[in-house]
Amino acid sequence: MVNLIEPTDLSLSQLNEIIELALDIISHREKYAEVCKGKKLATLFYEPSTRTRLSFTAAMMELGGNVLGFSDANSSSVRKGETVADTTKVVSCFADIIAMRHFEEGAALVAALNSRVPVINAGDGSHAHPTQTLTDLLTIRREIGRLDNLTIGFCGDLKFGRTVHSLIKALSRYKGVKVVLIAPEQLRLPGYMKHEVCDVLGVPYVEVETMEEVMPELDVLYMTRVQKERFLDEDEFDMVKDSFILTPEKIRTAKKEMRILHPLPRVNEITVEVDADPRAAYFRQVENGKFVRMALMLKLLEWAKEDSANTPAGVAACSQEELIPEGTVENKYTCRNHRCISNMENVPSLFRPAADGKESYRCLYCESKPV
Ligand code: NCD
Repeated sequence: MVNLIEPTDLSLSQLNEIIELALDIISHREKYAEVCKGKKLATLFYEPSTRTRLSFTAAMMELGGNVLGFSDANSSSVRKGETVADTTKVVSCFADIIAMRHFEEGAALVAALNSRVPVINAGDGSHAHPTQTLTDLLTIRREIGRLDNLTIGFCGDLKFGRTVHSLIKALSRYKGVKVVLIAPEQLRLPGYMKHEVCDVLGVPYVEVETMEEVMPELDVLYMTRVQKERFLDEDEFDMVKDSFILTPEKIRTAKKEMRILHPLPRVNEITVEVDADPRAAYFRQVENGKFVRMALMLKLLEWAKEDSANTPAGVAACSQEELIPEGTVENKYTCRNHRCISNMENVPSLFRPAADGKESYRCLYCESKPV
């Protein structure tokens, strides 16, 4: 594995290797100051970002490497109509590793299929955000001391929140994790996440309407922003935008050791008065994002080197088989998700069998069902 497109690309031992390396980096910063000397990271950001792009940049700088790329696709050849596939082919001639954020679901997978160097998904539409997940895991590990036997409440936009989808998938790797889903009807976790991830991978979940009713049970409260940019209808957004607002009053019944996480940016879902509470871990979480991205890039570069030593051609970052699971069918179905890259760019339609074994298929790019 040399790309990180989905959190489940990483096995439990790889997740733990990355977290342990991040912890070592935190304790011995100077040891890592030059380990990426001469290496280049390309950050290809087609969608706004503060933390993710800057933490990737800071991470590569702290490893002694350099960074190139764009933070506004309009300043690149994308404006002239260049596809993700072509842009990636070009950039992978200049960089040793690529971090891509895109508003189309599946863009990072298309990039990985066309890249000579490792590709990291820095967020693809409402689909996945695996490096935020690594940030969240490192934060939980540092704040609570363990990643198993936890009850985690996810609150807010569980429908479009890619950080929620990715963290739940990664948590399926750990024992004794229970998930509490706190969302209004319109923002509930998508069906495939409940039935093909939680049920199949064994993550017990309950759905509730208020945070107050579960607060005393939680080890972690993961707050999220309602993802305005993913709504097609502004009235629908207005109806749910103030669904949950965390105040000091609401955490009165929470455990002393409970921690509040938020991938940020926050809009109004946590009042600033909560920031002073020692349980508010969201600004400490930001710094963990830099350390874990340092660890991730080091590991991917190391794994890519091992892989290329084993392949005679030594050029492809990874074989297509690694990205396209067995049983995938090509150009047989069409994806019903209009935000999927398969409906925006000229890429083959790819569908893998659904994980619940019910003889249905899921789009390999975005996990929607076929039309
Ligand atoms: C998140 C994202 O981009 O999905 N932000 C981040 O990367 N830290 C969450 C959000 O935008 O709400």
